[in-house]
Amino acid sequence: MSNQVEASIYDYPVYYDLLFGSDVAAEYRFLKACFQKHAGCEVRSIFEPACGTGRLLIKLGREGYAVSGNDLNPKAVEFCNKRLAKYGLPETVVVGDMSKFRVKAKFDAAFNMINTFRHLATDEQALGHLQCMARGLNKGGLYVLGIHLEPTLCQPMQEEAWSARRGNLVVNSYMWSKGIDRKTRLEHLGLHVDVFTPTKRLRIVDHMEYRTYKHAEFLDLLKRVRGLEIAETYDFGYNIKKPCSVNGRSEDVVFVLRRK
Ligand SMILES: C[S@@+](CC[C@H](N)C(=O)[O-])C[C@H]1O[C@@H](n2cnc3c(N)ncnc32)[C@H](O)[C@@H]1O
Repeated sequence: MSNQVEASIYDYPVYYDLLFGSDVAAEYRFLKACFQKHAGCEVRSIFEPACGTGRLLIKLGREGYAVSGNDLNPKAVEFCNKRLAKYGLPETVVVGDMSKFRVKAKFDAAFNMINTFRHLATDEQALGHLQCMARGLNKGGLYVLGIHLEPTLCQPMQEEAWSARRGNLVVNSYMWSKGIDRKTRLEHLGLHVDVFTPTKRLRIVDHMEYRTYKHAEFLDLLKRVRGLEIAETYDFGYNIKKPCSVNGRSEDVVFVLRRK
């Protein structure tokens, strides 16, 4: 049976988590290595803004870190909290907006690995987010922020595809750029997620908007945030031994930000 719906992939946490949660090993190792190498404090508590299904947060919680997070999507929050509870961990994820939030207790580290920061559509929201993060971090604490920058010396990547399988469930996705509105700096993206089970075929037709950042634009934004400095930069190879300097060809960049 075949079916098509226009919806957000974030409303389908099971499919999202299979697609993006099946291969977290490299990100996980990298995060822990960053805490060791770059933090100016011992990392015990970790916060993930826009944590979604908490694919990395769960692993860190099971390792003994005190983890918490927020997300705009109640279905993702419920999914994440249920999984925390399944492992006997407190349900510490709340529905919240990463551009304006406060935490009850400061954290030692935070991360936001796969471009989620670009969901913040305006300068005000992006600045608000970084200010909230700076306020929430303990001195010496880290915010590991991975984003796709817009390169200035080569063509940006125009499409990406992912695929994952668990038992009889197969999820394939294809995302493509529909173009950038230069006035608003919003990139319009199409996303098709195809779900296959022995009895069902479903296509989720999604549309997203991501704010674009050239390297200089990101640095200008960061300059306006009191209390955060760049400790190091890497790429999405997540190799702690290979920091990368950012240039006009850089696209996938991980900024390791530290609370002064
Ligand atoms: C690409 S997913 C990333 C989820 C998770 N961080 C991960 O690495 O798998 C983006 C998430 O951002 C959330 N989101 C988008 N805008 C948000 C906002 N302003 N505040 C909080 N969450 C937001 C979505 O609901 C979605 O769960």
